[in-house]
Amino acid sequence: MTTLLKINASINSDQGQSSRLADQFIAAFRLRQPDVSVVLRDVASAGAIPHLDGERFGAFLAKPGERSAAQHAVIAYSDSLIDELKRAEVIVIGLPMYNFGVPSQLKAYFDHIARAGVTFRYGDTGPVGLLTGKKAYVFATRGGFYAGTPMDTQTGYVRDFLRFIGITDVQFVYAEGLAVSPQSKAEGLARAAAEIARLAA
Ligand SMILES: Cc1cc2nc3c(=O)[nH]c(=O)nc-3n(C[C@H](O)[C@H](O)[C@H](O)COP(=O)(O)O)c2cc1C
Repeated sequence: MTTLLKINASINSDQGQSSRLADQFIAAFRLRQPDVSVVLRDVASAGAIPHLDGERFGAFLAKPGERSAAQHAVIAYSDSLIDELKRAEVIVIGLPMYNFGVPSQLKAYFDHIARAGVTFRYGDTGPVGLLTGKKAYVFATRGGFYAGTPMDTQTGYVRDFLRFIGITDVQFVYAEGLAVSPQSKAEGLARAAAEIARLAA
């Protein structure tokens, strides 16, 4: 049994283009590997992931024996997100571009799973990611065209973050030009569909 964690970050929930591409990939993946259990983490649903603030980060820093009840609750929530991630061998992320960056809800999720001593540790030569042995697929959807240019701030950031926690095998699929014209939208989605078919073959 393979466990696949699907992380939706679209404000349009499962109707977002990024969520739909992730679903297309999962359907193709399932054909090749029917014994897959899919877990959904929709980070953009209302109030799903709170922003990291000083109080929450204070809980991350507090020694386990010295945590207040409120800090225990913060840690339990962060631990539950991390345990879900640890259980998955395959991670699928729907990654819309909003105002030139990643959805703020995805950033909030990342802020809750970056935990020193839990998902990374500091070694002699810098940070060492602890969530190793996983494969991630990222489905990036954009209204315009950015892939391969300095304006694509998403790819480097998401790749660096995943590497930081130990997820080094990351494949990006892009659907771009979705807001340029009906034709460029159709072309962008067709290119992504072809890439999905290739990846799942
Ligand atoms: C609030 C908002 C901001 C957006 N900002 C950008 C942007 O900066 N650059 C871009 O190319 N497209 C932008 N778009 C278009 C989205 O990237 C595009 O609609 C994409 O399909 C969103 O993914 P989703 O359908 O999974 O939500 C934006 C869309 C919204 C709703």
